[in-house]
Amino acid sequence: MIEAGAIERRVAELAAEIDRDYAGSEGLVVIGVLKGAVFFVTELTKRMTVPLTIDFFQTSSYGSGTSAGEVRIKRDIDLSVRGRDVLLVEDIVDTGWTLRTILDLFRFRGARSVRLCALLDKHEAREVDVPIDYCGFRIGREFVVGYGLDFSERYRNLPYIAVVEFPDEEQSS
Ligand code: IMP
Repeated sequence: MIEAGAIERRVAELAAEIDRDYAGSEGLVVIGVLKGAVFFVTELTKRMTVPLTIDFFQTSSYGSGTSAGEVRIKRDIDLSVRGRDVLLVEDIVDTGWTLRTILDLFRFRGARSVRLCALLDKHEAREVDVPIDYCGFRIGREFVVGYGLDFSERYRNLPYIAVVEFPDEEQSS
């Protein structure tokens, strides 16, 4: 769906935009959501020049999908966000529940500001409003893998984004 070169170019653009917006910042806390955002966080931050620290947060949801009040913390961050500018980096925003929950948590913990950066935005699947400040690409409702995104833990290492085709779904539709 999205070639490696196109992702690299877009990541460089986003890094430049974020750099401009945080120019003069005393120290940005970049928080990646595990595991999907690992590739994105490293490639993005390698291209940024503002002073920053990196941390990771991991969530999981009860059951198969994400829904209201069902996002659990699997791994919390080590750094304090109190009084700091936070940039939350996510691989993909689907229903929005994961980012909404983390966003509210860091605001509650006293972050000075919290902005969101997502590589992919499945806009049509949104159930709860989340303001994505930096978005790589808008996509449809397809299930995608690669560049950190998985299907049953596989395909994260693909350098591009690919669509997974489910034969059963095609027959029934
Ligand atoms: P949300 O809480 O519904 O926005 O879910 C976001 C999470 O769902 C992402 O961090 C991914 O782990 C997962 N997810 C949603 N759509 C896809 C997809 O197309 N491929 C792989 N993972 C996905």
